[in-house]
Amino acid sequence: MKVLVIGGGGREHALCWHLRACSPEAEVYCAPGSDGIAQVADVVRIAADEVHELADLARDLKIDLTIVGPELPLSLGVVDEFQNRGLRIFGPRKAAAQLESSKVFAKEFMRRHGIPTADFEVVHDAEEACAAAARFGLPVVLKADGLAAGKGVLLAHTKAELDDAIAAFFEHRKFGAGGDRVVVEQFLQGEEVSFIGLSDGLRLLPLATAKDYKRIGEGDIGPNTGGMGAHSPSGVADASTAALVLERVMHATVAGMAAEDNPFVGFLYAGLMLTDDGPSVLEFNVRLGDPEAQALLLRLEDDLARLLLRGARGDFETTRLDFKKEAAACLVLAAEGYPESAVKGARISGLDVAATHEGVEIFHAGTAKTETGWVVAGGRVLNVCASGRDLRHALRRAYDAARRIDWPGRQLRGDIGRRVLQAENIQHSGITSIPREVLGEESSG
Ligand code: AMP
Ligand code: GLY
Repeated sequence: MKVLVIGGGGREHALCWHLRACSPEAEVYCAPGSDGIAQVADVVRIAADEVHELADLARDLKIDLTIVGPELPLSLGVVDEFQNRGLRIFGPRKAAAQLESSKVFAKEFMRRHGIPTADFEVVHDAEEACAAAARFGLPVVLKADGLAAGKGVLLAHTKAELDDAIAAFFEHRKFGAGGDRVVVEQFLQGEEVSFIGLSDGLRLLPLATAKDYKRIGEGDIGPNTGGMGAHSPSGVADASTAALVLERVMHATVAGMAAEDNPFVGFLYAGLMLTDDGPSVLEFNVRLGDPEAQALLLRLEDDLARLLLRGARGDFETTRLDFKKEAAACLVLAAEGYPESAVKGARISGLDVAATHEGVEIFHAGTAKTETGWVVAGGRVLNVCASGRDLRHALRRAYDAARRIDWPGRQLRGDIGRRVLQAENIQHSGITSIPREVLGEESSG
């Protein structure tokens, strides 16, 4: 079987690695790939947003299945283009990808189908934004309608921050046309957790739980990033919460999209806040999370190529996925200056040694290979991932390996998983009554 993966980051490296590991006979191609991905796949330098050229490539190489990593090609209609040309691809069509590419679409869809999400209003100018914010009170959240690489969400805790946010959208037009419509929504408090599933348009197969860490700084402070680390299981969603999310969010979304004649095929990712009133959807993504995917793929036992090929045909022919009992962790090593402006070009040391650590896999997110070795070529540079018998073991292995890798200004959060493990300590000492399954659970079908 010939498989093409679209994308070039750590998630796509992990996808190519998994495809190679679970189906050794598969021929794996990746576009645009990266120097790191070239270690496990044949890389073709066509950018992820060149949808016509990608379809030409799939036709010329006689690709049996294309898997899409990032959101941009999905929002541009890469799936429509492939399908119109009779090429098999796993992902949502452009209309269904609006669950991620339009916050207004996603919020109104959730409202129509009673899927739990923060109360909101769609506004078109500063005056409407002020009125909506006054209705919700501070703190309040403002979100650009269109894709903004994770930067289109502004939280306002004070009146001054609110004024700045409104000016950013409507005066400075920081988000361009993507900010013509803005969602103003109620601020939610709680623990964030992501749920990811695969849909063939009718059914949803849940992946194991995962948690990512979005802020640059330890203790979840500082600006949002693409993600500084992740682990699976999440350790924060108990079995009953997972069941509730599956029913009220994941299955409800797939059923709602099908009922609206806009079926959702692809990876469905719900970013949720676990509030005192129950889980509430913050956002949908129509792809695998990065770096959640890296941790999840370390645990996934199924043959992804065969599964997604069946999904692309409209029937997974199975009702559940199998995950190893082991836990997995992924640590992101980022460049100096990330996320504002990454400093590129630094020489990376220690990569070979780290890669020999037991249970460790290293995926490349932003590196380049030069005659003298690997150098920093992006904001998120490397993903050091590890499996272990439990979360503590997986994290320890990942940190031991990650600390061998260095370059000037390298950033690594030292607290990935820490709060989850602290909760586990409290639980083991019998101080609280956190249910056992909170710590070791995984969602299953
Ligand atoms: P989003 O892209 O919608 O997931 O928003 C990015 C981040 O902003 C989330 O991961 C949350 O940390 C935060 N956020 C979004 N919506 C809310 C909300 N209603 N209340 C509190 N925080 C939020
Ligand atoms: N890790 C969050 C995302 O991929 O959007």
